[in-house]
Amino acid sequence: MRSNISPKYMHLVFLLLSFLLVWLKITNGTPIRYLDGEGAGDYKCIDKERDALLHFKSYIHHDPYDSLSTWTSKEGEAANDCCEWDGVKCNDRSRVIGLYLSRANFEGNISPSLLNLSYLTSLELASNSFNGTIPSFISSMTQLETLYLGWNNFTGSIPSELGNLTNLHTLSLSYIGSCTIENLDWLSRLSRLEGLDMAGISLGKVDNWIDVLLTLKRLSFLDLSSCELSQVMHPYSYSFVDSSSLAIGYLHLKDNNLNSSMYHWLISLVSNKTEYLDLSGNKLDGVPKYLGNLCLVYFYFQNNSMPIDFTNFLDNLSGCTTSTLQWLDASGSQFTGSLPDDIQNFSSLSNLYLSGNKLNGTISEKVWELPYLKFLDLSSNSLKGDISNIGKSKYIMTLDLSNNLLEEVSSKGGMTNFICMKIDLSSNKLYGLIPTVASSIKWLDLSNNKFYGNISFLCQIDDASLELLDLSNNSLIGEIPDCLWHLKYLRVLNLGQNNLSGRL
Ligand SMILES: *[C@@H]1O[C@H](CO)[C@@H](O)[C@H](O)[C@H]1NC(C)=O
Ligand SMILES: *[C@@H]1O[C@H](CO)[C@@H](O)[C@H](O)[C@H]1NC(C)=O
Ligand SMILES: *[C@@H]1O[C@H](CO)[C@@H](O)[C@H](O)[C@H]1NC(C)=O
Ligand SMILES: *[C@@H]1O[C@H](CO)[C@@H](O)[C@H](O)[C@H]1NC(C)=O
Ligand SMILES: *[C@@H]1O[C@H](CO)[C@@H](O)[C@H](O)[C@H]1NC(C)=O
Ligand SMILES: *[C@@H]1O[C@H](CO)[C@@H](O)[C@H](O)[C@H]1NC(C)=O
Ligand SMILES: *[C@@H]1O[C@H](CO)[C@@H](O)[C@H](O)[C@H]1NC(C)=O
Ligand SMILES: *[C@@H]1O[C@H](CO)[C@@H](O)[C@H](O)[C@H]1NC(C)=O
Ligand SMILES: *[C@@H]1O[C@H](CO)[C@@H](O)[C@H](O)[C@H]1NC(C)=O
Ligand SMILES: *[C@@H]1O[C@H](CO)[C@@H](O)[C@H](O)[C@H]1NC(C)=O
Ligand SMILES: *[C@@H]1O[C@H](CO)[C@@H](O)[C@H](O)[C@H]1NC(C)=O
Ligand SMILES: *[C@@H]1O[C@H](CO)[C@@H](O)[C@H](O)[C@H]1NC(C)=O
Repeated sequence: MRSNISPKYMHLVFLLLSFLLVWLKITNGTPIRYLDGEGAGDYKCIDKERDALLHFKSYIHHDPYDSLSTWTSKEGEAANDCCEWDGVKCNDRSRVIGLYLSRANFEGNISPSLLNLSYLTSLELASNSFNGTIPSFISSMTQLETLYLGWNNFTGSIPSELGNLTNLHTLSLSYIGSCTIENLDWLSRLSRLEGLDMAGISLGKVDNWIDVLLTLKRLSFLDLSSCELSQVMHPYSYSFVDSSSLAIGYLHLKDNNLNSSMYHWLISLVSNKTEYLDLSGNKLDGVPKYLGNLCLVYFYFQNNSMPIDFTNFLDNLSGCTTSTLQWLDASGSQFTGSLPDDIQNFSSLSNLYLSGNKLNGTISEKVWELPYLKFLDLSSNSLKGDISNIGKSKYIMTLDLSNNLLEEVSSKGGMTNFICMKIDLSSNKLYGLIPTVASSIKWLDLSNNKFYGNISFLCQIDDASLELLDLSNNSLIGEIPDCLWHLKYLRVLNLGQNNLSGRL
């Protein structure tokens, strides 16, 4: 299936499937998501549940955004129906089934009165400032299917009693506070788990974490970013089960200081159902050939600190992944070499980010023929040579080749083919007649090169598109055309360090 949706949106799809929002990091900065109560018609919420909620409120010492302002009890008023309160969801019998109270920055404690909400299946309390130990009564709420406790200020150890919550589909404990964990065996009791987010919790003392995860046959989303995984030498005890029985689709392992010895155990967690793999922020010096046999769609390999030949890296991805990969982000690593002709085999590629590497060869012209490529960022490398066939690309929307050593771009035909919105070729050694560009361009930066010729081509650009134009530090000549003053949305204009004349 080919789709243009970004990985963020793919997450949303997953989250809808499992009824919740695991990936709090994405929603950073967005407002708290409240679901309106869905109390139907004549029913009103029952007194016992309303009292439980009011008791919960009374344990909150500080509610900085007034998130609970609708939670009031006034005799005889509609406000009495707790199903109408913000963040509360009821079923059609007016029983409370969901509390959506993430990102409220509450300070205080979690009241055990929640035990009186006997139909509650979703409890979302992430991104608050609850402190102290994780309340043990939570492990008695065995009807829960969704539990978010991440991004709080809890201390102590994560209670193994959470293993009593055998109905859980999704559990998020990411960045839960300074909690410790020494044993994960309780997790294998959560056999219905589909989403597990433990980012930011040290698993450095859990010698068998892989054994435990391999028992969770329904797991499709797993986030173990920043879990100090490199501290566990052999995180398993027996020979691996057939990983084709696993279903992990989304696997996050970034920022774990891992070296390539991790590939001995990674093989047990991935399968051809793995679409999304994040290995960023480690110390990996390549990828094993078995990653090619998966069918990856999104692959993140940013900020790995070891030198790697990019051509060999692509070779190791050959297999199913070659035809399925849509998104490759390997910026900020230490890749050397060229962008080779083999890039053409990656025929589904839509987003390719390789900025901030040490690429010092040339850019294969095959890249311009990739039929779905929309975003290409090769900035801040030492790429050389010729990009004269750039005009063959019909679909690129954003192109950033700035800060390289590129020398040639053809002016004939130029870049008029593109529907490209943003072109940045600044700070190269490009020499020649300034290329013409598509009329829909929004952002054009050709500064710090050696382009010559006049700039009358700018009059072909739509009045209502161009926002940034930087042609400074070139060898441009002639009059500044009056049409520039009709560009309605131009915010940045720099024509300095040229031989242009006319009025500004
Ligand atoms: C549950 O509600 C009853 C009254 O209906 C109350 O006596 C009891 O204290 C409540 N339990 C908790 C844990 O708040
Ligand atoms: C929890 O935070 C409050 C301030 O909101 C503080 O007064 C209290 O001492 C903290 N409790 C613990 C156990 O850290
Ligand atoms: C909770 O932890 C966060 C991050 O460590 C911190 O910024 C915040 O001040 C803490 N809140 C309280 C109430 O201690
Ligand atoms: C919860 O789990 C603990 C052991 O982890 C067990 O001793 C206890 O009986 C369980 N409680 C319930 C209510 O099932
Ligand atoms: C790779 O990491 C493992 C521990 O995770 C360590 O034992 C090993 O020495 C490391 N290898 C290299 C070459 O640094
Ligand atoms: C995935 O692997 C299974 C079992 O190894 C195999 O039957 C299936 O054809 C593979 N699917 C794809 C898309 O390669
Ligand atoms: C390619 O795969 C082989 C075998 O798995 C490995 O030895 C080599 O280091 C890999 N190279 C790169 C650049 O990933
Ligand atoms: C990679 O490093 C850059 C610069 O230090 C940083 O801005 C970026 O967030 C890092 N990416 C990841 C995935 O850690
Ligand atoms: C790309 O395709 C060519 C020709 O089919 C093949 O020789 C080469 O090994 C492939 N490279 C990769 C990285 O898949
Ligand atoms: C690129 O850099 C590598 C490593 O520094 C070097 O061995 C290689 O000769 C360079 N290639 C080119 C084409 O400059
Ligand atoms: C002008 O561009 C050249 C590269 O073509 C660069 O070396 C030089 O530093 C730039 N001058 C200024 C003042 O930015
Ligand atoms: C600007 O340059 C183009 C192409 O070189 C040329 O056809 C045109 O006559 C020039 N316009 C002016 C006003 O010099």
